[in-house]
Amino acid sequence: MIQTDRQEAGGKTRAGRWEPQILAFCCNYCAYAAADLAGSKRMQYSHNVRIIHTPCTGKIEMEHILDAFEKGIDGVLVAGCLEGGCHFLEGNLRARKQTGRIRDILDEIGVGAERLKMVNFSAAMAPTFVERVEEIVETVRALGPSPLRASTQKESAGEP
Ligand code: FES
Repeated sequence: MIQTDRQEAGGKTRAGRWEPQILAFCCNYCAYAAADLAGSKRMQYSHNVRIIHTPCTGKIEMEHILDAFEKGIDGVLVAGCLEGGCHFLEGNLRARKQTGRIRDILDEIGVGAERLKMVNFSAAMAPTFVERVEEIVETVRALGPSPLRASTQKESAGEP
């Protein structure tokens, strides 16, 4: 399970309060550059988000995202270049379609489509990156822990 510095296993802070755990898959070009720019400008955003660096959003497979949810992650952000700006031409368009399909699956299995979002940035859009991160953290915080989190924790504790 991925943990942030201020969180312990199960997504709880040391004070015992649940905090959402979010993964942000950022493409190597615009999205990661926007995240990096936010960091170098010392823009503050939630510590709940872990960035996964990926060559292009089109290279993210459905199982990467579903696996993250199965492992107890509460929300996922897929961040790519602006439409028309993908360095692999149509990777972000493929990712948008796939994200839509996964959102349908998340609704069908009771996890909730709102826990997965795709966003697009140019490399200069650091403030927008921070806004989108804060939006998904707040959305997921309002939804509460992922229903898959409890079963993941039972499994790791060896419970049936
Ligand atoms: Fe950024 Fe394809 S390289 S989405």
